[in-house]
Amino acid sequence: MAQAIAPANIAFIKYWGMRDADQILPYNGSISLNLDACLTTTSVVFDPTWDEDLVTLQFYQQEPQTAGGRARERVVAHLDRIRTIAGVTTRARVTSSNTFPADAGIASSAAAFAALTLATTAALKLDLDERELTRLTRRSGSGSAGRSIPTGYVEWYNGDDNGSFAESLAPPEHWDLADIVAVVDTSAKKIGSAENHLLAITSPYFKVRLEGIEQRLNATREAIARRDLTLLGETMETDAVSMHVVCMTQNPPSFYWSAGTMAVIQAVRAWRAEGLEAYFTIDAGPNVHVICAGSDRAELQRRLEALPEVSFTLANGPGAGARLVEAPG
Ligand code: DP6
Repeated sequence: MAQAIAPANIAFIKYWGMRDADQILPYNGSISLNLDACLTTTSVVFDPTWDEDLVTLQFYQQEPQTAGGRARERVVAHLDRIRTIAGVTTRARVTSSNTFPADAGIASSAAAFAALTLATTAALKLDLDERELTRLTRRSGSGSAGRSIPTGYVEWYNGDDNGSFAESLAPPEHWDLADIVAVVDTSAKKIGSAENHLLAITSPYFKVRLEGIEQRLNATREAIARRDLTLLGETMETDAVSMHVVCMTQNPPSFYWSAGTMAVIQAVRAWRAEGLEAYFTIDAGPNVHVICAGSDRAELQRRLEALPEVSFTLANGPGAGARLVEAPG
């Protein structure tokens, strides 16, 4: 038996577009920050007497449910991947719970697959270093989950199977930033990105996005190293808009933004013009992540909650990576 905790992460430079759907290789590198308040805890127990895997998911403030369908299939496929490496066929019980509401539109899959990979490899006593662990987590299908393994500020490299790993650029305490998630739509869970990762290439703007990516990755690395919020924020907004332009112009198109998304973007831009420095980024859903200095967190949270379009907010500081809570001796 082993238990692991892993954080969700927010990408400053997004992973968008998959060039290999079997190995889960991206078209571009990405950079993110782990979130300290959005965590998944997962336990994995192996027992030779069981003849089937059992997956139980407990969402925030909800009763535990036995997973079926696609959710179970993705977990079992990943267990199989790890069992093959360990050379075992033993069935497992997987139990997973989140500290954040399922309707917040936060990528729970990144936290979930990072925690699952760490707990499963520990339970099977596989000796993997962090780099190997990120590569294995990437192959779960939720590629961005690999970025939830290392601590703090993390880069996931574009490369072949060996070269496409994630590593920490800086620990959480390096820079006191905040990510306030402004939830504008509680009905829509984050839509799985798998299908759209494959459609990205059908957008005529995908080429344009990739042409600018190295410059944005360099600027983001530099902004993190120098703790330069202006450089980080401007680069991050450009990258988020570029990702969404690709979505809106792919075939068939996807529109993730709602009227509430636009209202938050406009408010953030107006506050910034008045001197409160904050920047937006948006994943594959309508909710807006607002990034600011830790010292402005309370003020921004207050202002965001006062917007009629915002249902609630979720504030995070920089977080550690995946860690074991319990492991076999
Ligand atoms: C927009 O395929 O890694 O969040 O959709 O949660 O399965 P799931 O994740 P993944 O796609 C992530 C897309 C993104 C950008 C990012 O986090 O880099």
